[in-house]
Amino acid sequence: MAYLLQELLQENPRETLWIADENSKALLQAGFGFTGDLLTNRWDIAHLAEGRCNRSFFSDFHFTELERRYRRIVFPVSKEKAVVHHVINSAPHVIGEGGELVLLGGKQSGIKTYATRAATRFGCRKSLEKSGLDYTSRLVLHSDGGERLDDQDYPRLRQLEALAGLYSKPGLFGWNKIDRGSALLAGHFPSHLPAPGANVVDLGCGYGFLSTELAKLGNFHFTATDNNAAALLACERNFHEGGIAGVVTPSDAGGDLQSGIAELVICNPPFHQGFQVEGDLTERFLSNAARLLGPGGTALFVVNEFIPLPKKAQPHFSAIEPLERKEGFCTFRLRR
Ligand SMILES: C[S@@+](CC[C@H](N)C(=O)[O-])C[C@H]1O[C@@H](n2cnc3c(N)ncnc32)[C@H](O)[C@@H]1O
Repeated sequence: MAYLLQELLQENPRETLWIADENSKALLQAGFGFTGDLLTNRWDIAHLAEGRCNRSFFSDFHFTELERRYRRIVFPVSKEKAVVHHVINSAPHVIGEGGELVLLGGKQSGIKTYATRAATRFGCRKSLEKSGLDYTSRLVLHSDGGERLDDQDYPRLRQLEALAGLYSKPGLFGWNKIDRGSALLAGHFPSHLPAPGANVVDLGCGYGFLSTELAKLGNFHFTATDNNAAALLACERNFHEGGIAGVVTPSDAGGDLQSGIAELVICNPPFHQGFQVEGDLTERFLSNAARLLGPGGTALFVVNEFIPLPKKAQPHFSAIEPLERKEGFCTFRLRR
């Protein structure tokens, strides 16, 4: 995939917008330099792309904010249907008539279906070319009049009953449900409350479930952080609506936050980054949690039971106390 993507990006790069999500990280990590622009909803990728691309934009795929038009978009399709449909719907406004959208993906990525749907949207013939294990679809825009695909109204933040009235949106991991592990962790908050006014970091905040649960129990100052642009938008909205004191800021596993700022860190770390497994993620969350805590600070973590958290936490924390093992999750209290 990386080689095919590189080839496609090298065709007329200055006219090309690269839509980059988890599938594109490997190419940037390999040191690939691109003279065009890149748009991503992931902070780590936007960061990595700085200096390796002409310009890198970080947003929840806000095409309307891009200053210029491009003649090509290259998009390794993501696994989230709403995101792919949103990109296909938005592409005509960016590239204009005669412009090209290039989709690529492996057999399991849904690329064949996306190619068919994008052809309808673009008013052109479907194209699909196989190279090795991957497929490429090149779609040239003939008109802007084709039917829009169902993108679940991608940009809209919505208030959900299933989230007890919190706001969320597609594009965010597990966007329309309360994570079971997070609910179990929140159940431990009443017995581990920090002092009133304490600084709390919500690491990998998503739409802000953990912060909003803790805020019900006292007045604290929150720093909520996530890698995903949609998560930051939703969390900001929930802080605003709930009158929660704090800031919402992007970071890769908390790496961009200042050391020693927190009395308490609350965290349900991803064991999937995007939708791909990245082995060192839990460790990075743990080492940053320890770094963010001031002396005597506490971190409350929940992980899937197959993650050996005590072993991973041991180099960073002096006390590791299991709290509960339930429904496939383990909760821990970690102290410096
Ligand atoms: C299991 S979810 C928990 C979300 C939220 N705290 C909750 O309880 O609903 C993990 C979160 O980590 C975020 N995440 C994934 N990779 C990340 C990274 N490298 N840096 C920061 N956050 C990340 C995801 O976007 C997701 O919101």
